[in-house]
Amino acid sequence: MRIPFIAGNWKMYKTSAEAAAFAVAFKELYHDTDVKAAICAPFTQLETLVKAFEGTGIGVGAQNVHFEKEGAYTGEISAGMLQEIGVDYCIVGHSERRQYFGETDETVNCKLKTLLPTGIIPILCVGEVLEEREAGREQEVVRSQVMKAFEGIEGTDAEKVVIAYEPVWAIGTGRTASPQQANDMCGFIRTVLEDLYDDVISDRVVIQYGGSVKPENATEIMNMEEIDGALVGGASLDALKFSEIINF
Ligand code: PGA
Repeated sequence: MRIPFIAGNWKMYKTSAEAAAFAVAFKELYHDTDVKAAICAPFTQLETLVKAFEGTGIGVGAQNVHFEKEGAYTGEISAGMLQEIGVDYCIVGHSERRQYFGETDETVNCKLKTLLPTGIIPILCVGEVLEEREAGREQEVVRSQVMKAFEGIEGTDAEKVVIAYEPVWAIGTGRTASPQQANDMCGFIRTVLEDLYDDVISDRVVIQYGGSVKPENATEIMNMEEIDGALVGGASLDALKFSEIINF
């Protein structure tokens, strides 16, 4: 049984003081233990959140990681460093990183392989851009992203990965994929996993939808059969809105 999982992606928003204030407010509002929740915050806010959410069941995630264990990589953060401070999740391959920071399917694959042995759960983002959808190539693109991300990863590790289907044209645009479009792609991703592994493993993988999820559309999205959760950007910055999404 897959437990619904809703994660916030703060991107490059909130200072430590703002993160601490959010944590106080959100802890008051978070009651629903049937839904797993996490906040993926900037690196400098992670420790604050880990401490603030201790004992609440609310998870904390990073938004990126370097794929080497250590080394001369100025400005980078390793999986071990995240593990040491108690981080639970790490977003990998977000479209903004693919678009602005040279993230490729190969680096995404390396990052999954670095994270999995540490116990940090990767939230792997995949999704097509508008031109690809308009050309009817969305399944081909997403299939390729998934296959390359999981290259060389054993099924027992693969089943731990959370996948977030985020059509790039729906991120931060206010333009949500229709629940049916989102559901269809999440179902398609599960068939790709079934081809790569088997139906037992594909059945265990939690697949989220992301892209302009807000309190007003969360219920409809979360009620779709193939959608197990959501990756929420803008609406996760507000404790009340994020809690409303979790209590969809
Ligand atoms: P959004 O962002 O909810 O603001 O569209 C989603 C994401 O980028 O993960």
